Amino acid sequence: MNLHQTVAAEAEAAFAAAGIAGNPVVLQPAKNADFGDFQINGVMGAAKKAKQNPRELAQKVADALAGNQVVESAEVAGPGFINLRLKAAFLAQNIESALSDGHLNVRQSMHPQTVVIDYSSPNLAKEMHVGHLRSSIIGDSIARVLRYLGHHVIAQNHVGDWGTQFGMLVAYMVEQQQDNAEFKLADLEQFYRSAKIRFDESPEFADAAREYVVKLQGGDETVLALWRQFVAVSLQHAQAVYDTLGLKLTPADVAGESMYNHDLQTVVDDLSAKGLAVDDDGAKVVFLDEFKNQDGEPAAFIVQKQGGGFLYASTDLACVRHRVGRLKGERLLYVVDTRQKLHFEQLFTTSRKAGYLPENVAAEFIGFGTMMGKDGKPFKTRSGDTVKLVDLLDEAVERATVLVQSKNADLGADEAAQIGRTVGIGAVKYADLSKNRSSDYVFDWETMLSFEGNTAPYLQYAYTRVQSVFRKAGAWNQNAAVILDAPLEKQLAVELLKFEDVLQSVAETCYPHYLAAYLYQVATLFSRFYEACPILKAEGATRDSRLQLAKLTGETLKQGLDLLGIQTLEVM
Ligand code: ARG
Repeated sequence: MNLHQTVAAEAEAAFAAAGIAGNPVVLQPAKNADFGDFQINGVMGAAKKAKQNPRELAQKVADALAGNQVVESAEVAGPGFINLRLKAAFLAQNIESALSDGHLNVRQSMHPQTVVIDYSSPNLAKEMHVGHLRSSIIGDSIARVLRYLGHHVIAQNHVGDWGTQFGMLVAYMVEQQQDNAEFKLADLEQFYRSAKIRFDESPEFADAAREYVVKLQGGDETVLALWRQFVAVSLQHAQAVYDTLGLKLTPADVAGESMYNHDLQTVVDDLSAKGLAVDDDGAKVVFLDEFKNQDGEPAAFIVQKQGGGFLYASTDLACVRHRVGRLKGERLLYVVDTRQKLHFEQLFTTSRKAGYLPENVAAEFIGFGTMMGKDGKPFKTRSGDTVKLVDLLDEAVERATVLVQSKNADLGADEAAQIGRTVGIGAVKYADLSKNRSSDYVFDWETMLSFEGNTAPYLQYAYTRVQSVFRKAGAWNQNAAVILDAPLEKQLAVELLKFEDVLQSVAETCYPHYLAAYLYQVATLFSRFYEACPILKAEGATRDSRLQLAKLTGETLKQGLDLLGIQTLEVM
């Protein structure tokens, strides 16, 4: 059930009864629970249009609302707001179905779509660094939410496995193999650096590297074999990171740049034939009037370089055709650093004009900001290098394990390590996902590992608190009716029933932080409810009903965290 929509529908009906049908009802959650559960703010606007007294009109709407199945009371306040209180019986009944329907009262989408999500997508020439963290976990969470709502999600890991860098790497592989049969690819970062040094210091090496690029693109089997070997190792590194992070990405989701190589010339020729790409100094360029610069000149989207080489843009055009034509995507999402925004806008515009992206297919750039250090600069190691993702995750687990041990000295080493892993990885992911992805954010160990505030440890701990209630509860009636008497029982129930609302807005906007904020709110309300309404000390029907609320809280926290890709624990 979408609670917001359900209440809004009642408000709309009341607007119609009051003679102002069609005006926006502007329904909002109440700012202060003492005044009600929701607030209607649309009457003032409607009154102005209809030239009526807003308070009188509001009273008409309120009268029309009274006594239906959903609304308990509607009170006019201020210049013409209406405060709504929902019926306890209506809330209780929906809590009961959330407990019994196996899907927390969240319906499957009525219009399931095939959604193609491009995420993670690291360049394979180097090891994954912290810059790839955001795309990986934001994309993974969006994929989980969409799947939960019944959409068909196709993950595409658009790895950078093609281009000039690979000529250099192959040249270095050849050189290394001559020296010692078993060359080392264990440290890709080091391997890349050494290759780059050779490239810069030796003109012969650089020439060889360029030759390998030509051979690679020409399909030379020997060079391809070396390239494949490199790519395989690099992908193994990436997969290890995905597994540590608990992402749903698998090797089957890899659809790298090289995959489109065969199609690039076709695409450029097609754009030329359609009169979109024109010759410009030997290069092929699509001029886009939509992106004029200050001097009024259209932006140049280069699709083929002088001399025939292809670029990032050429690959992405072929890729759009693939995702629409082959994968039958109806919505294409690209979870990529916000600095690439212009590239994607130009890509989408060009694709629309070329007919690769029909009107009924949506294409959305899901940009994210940079992860910053506490010094306000992009996150780096002390020596100023980019931080390898594996190292960062190892550190998270280490810190969390120490923390967990300090909180609970009784834990055995194995148990502490296991809890430390869940808390550490969860903390890193949650710190990221709980922030508005559009902005930069400061990466800070102390805040993310804190047990207070909007953090993973706080939510994971809240979940274990719910579980501990059940360990102590003994036998209870799991089919008991839900009774909502106390204000905090009701508030918690209203919040629990907003789960579908929040998932739908995450699915629409691709902002996972809405879900994080929601879970934090649920956990906070639960702890207030827990203080105000004793569960285990209560008796009979009240005790069972409170246990039902606790049960749904636990299930919502667990499911919600899972949709963020974060694990829960039974004890910690
Ligand atoms: N490999 C690119 C990078 O690391 C990201 C690729 C994003 N996806 C795409 N279809 N261009 O910057």
